[in-house]
Amino acid sequence: MSVREEFDTWAADGRDKGMEKRHWHTAKYVLARMPVEAGDTVLDLGCGSGYAGRALRDTKNAGRVYGLDGSPEMARNAQGYTDDSDVSYLVGDFDHLPFEDDSIDHIVTMEAFYYANDPHETLREIRRILQPGGTFFCAVNYYEENVHSHDWQDSISVKMTRWSGEEYRESFRDAGLYVAEQDNIPDRETEIPNTSEFPTDSWETREDMVERYREFGTLLTVGVSP
Ligand SMILES: C[S@@+](CC[C@H](N)C(=O)[O-])C[C@H]1O[C@@H](n2cnc3c(N)ncnc32)[C@H](O)[C@@H]1O
Repeated sequence: MSVREEFDTWAADGRDKGMEKRHWHTAKYVLARMPVEAGDTVLDLGCGSGYAGRALRDTKNAGRVYGLDGSPEMARNAQGYTDDSDVSYLVGDFDHLPFEDDSIDHIVTMEAFYYANDPHETLREIRRILQPGGTFFCAVNYYEENVHSHDWQDSISVKMTRWSGEEYRESFRDAGLYVAEQDNIPDRETEIPNTSEFPTDSWETREDMVERYREFGTLLTVGVSP
């Protein structure tokens, strides 16, 4: 199944908003760390409901904001959630970013990068379109050290790339980006039941759930364009 077929279904049954709600637990900290200044042009890759771009307009007075998504239904929903004329949602693929060289100040992606057909090509594209000194904030919950994410591929038809933290850093450098930082952002909001309630439908032990959310959380890797 293509990205379009898979995620159009998600958008149609309201999962764009469901993801927004869950991802916001850590995404808000990712966005707060971005060095976006008033008037900057920002791109959100795999924007889903488009909340990240709207938040950067509201909190940092970003200038032009673009959200790109491979699912036309996601992009259509995202556009419908705002009437801000400086926020645009586009349909496109991570392999070919439809922007001029050195044209974007900052790029963010939340829980989407690992769906790239060729993640190395996506990084080269990101390097190409970022201004010198521009940043790439790449946030993922699906990664090698997060053993609790390893079976996610079983329930989705789009191929996923599971890199380790080190593979993210190496791949950023291979594409010509400096690595400014890498960090785990804990999710402190997902509710974890008392020990007596385990096992649950999804979790064998409370310790596993604590590790997944409070310890591993979201892996953030920050690249900077030279
Ligand atoms: C798990 S959702 C995350 C959405 C949003 N960033 C969030 O935090 O809720 C991943 C999104 O990436 C998009 N996507 C996946 N692969 C893509 C690709 N190769 N090119 C463009 N968009 C893609 C999907 O359509 C989907 O909306």
